[in-house]
Amino acid sequence: MTSAFLQIQRLRKTYDDVVAIDQVSLDVRKGEFMTFLGPSGSGKSTTLYIVAGFQEPTEGRVLLDGKPLLSVAPNKRNIGMVFQRYTLFPHLTVGQNVAFPLRVRRRPEAEIKKKVEQMLALLHLAEFRDRMPGQLSGGQQQRVAIARALAYDPPVLLMDEPLSALDKKLREEIQLELRRIHQETGVTILYVTHDQEEALRLSDRIAVFNKGCIEQCGTGEELYENPASRFVANFIGNSNFLPVRITARDAAQSSAVFPSGHAIAATGDATLSVGGDGTLMVRPEQIRIRAAGAAKNTAGLPVTVRDITYLGDAMHYSVTTPWAQDMSVRMPAGDHRDSGIVVGTQAWIDWDARDTRLFAQA
Ligand SMILES: Nc1ncnc2c1ncn2[C@@H]1O[C@H](COP(=O)(O)OP(=O)(O)OP(=O)(O)O)[C@@H](O)[C@H]1O
Ligand SMILES: [Mg+2]
Repeated sequence: MTSAFLQIQRLRKTYDDVVAIDQVSLDVRKGEFMTFLGPSGSGKSTTLYIVAGFQEPTEGRVLLDGKPLLSVAPNKRNIGMVFQRYTLFPHLTVGQNVAFPLRVRRRPEAEIKKKVEQMLALLHLAEFRDRMPGQLSGGQQQRVAIARALAYDPPVLLMDEPLSALDKKLREEIQLELRRIHQETGVTILYVTHDQEEALRLSDRIAVFNKGCIEQCGTGEELYENPASRFVANFIGNSNFLPVRITARDAAQSSAVFPSGHAIAATGDATLSVGGDGTLMVRPEQIRIRAAGAAKNTAGLPVTVRDITYLGDAMHYSVTTPWAQDMSVRMPAGDHRDSGIVVGTQAWIDWDARDTRLFAQA
């Protein structure tokens, strides 16, 4: 038994010798906000379009509420879709655009009227009811597209980078509305973006796509705290990746040395053996930095401070390791004031072993 509402099972799509996606499997719960995050060409849209019915997979299947979906004609799937570019009918008013999917379904006039008003209110669009799409801003047009997609109460709403054509302020505004609409309607959403901040802000869970496969799926916190690979660590949040050689290991922890000979403890990849090379990941905000003269921990690194940037709530330090690798360090701005750290001088950095991850060398 599974509580999955939408089940995507071993999808594969090829174009001649191009493998667009392979072995894509995912269970989505009813009412979940699931985001596909990944670089360009990683297979996000392909997966979405197969669910929508715009494309047929080479292999695999999709179940909605336990029933096979792929044999259902696209226009019978009852799945709402919002695209990156506004796809409103230019010759219809806002109200007529929202009413369109209901008219196609031949709903009674009274019901259409009621539903259109409800959707316009939900998206804060009532004052624009009689305008043409060309008389609206990009953000307003995209809100109309969302209202139209939700008008017939689809159980699933698919959105392919719906905000990417908007400027940052508008994007954040509609992100907030999307969260509210998701909470108010309980619709299950599959959402595509390559903006990690947007993914973190909106999603219950995020599926990270890489080269046609889902590399990891989890809550933002899980992906951030426990990235399964260097790729995921790089995609969610910022990271430093440092070369290490494993010197000892037991079940919980490994010991390793940097190219400079400095030793550290780390947790992570169980496939690494003593003598093997790996990559140590540590996030800029999990590093402590202090002036070289200050009392220091046994495990850590001497670095040269190259640059210090004030970011309002934080200080950002660009530092260089003894083997000439650049690293980022972030610290609350208040902690910097009396630290004595100055550009051009030596500093000492360290961190808690539990805040690091060890990956087999990529
Ligand atoms: N009609 C097609 N013919 C050949 N290859 C295709 C076709 N459509 C998509 N592809 C390839 O499939 C892969 C996945 O494409 P897809 O559009 O799913 O990526 P995406 O993750 O949505 O990327 P983006 O972020 O740029 O939108 C890409 O390598 C792409 O070039
Ligand atoms: Mg795409």
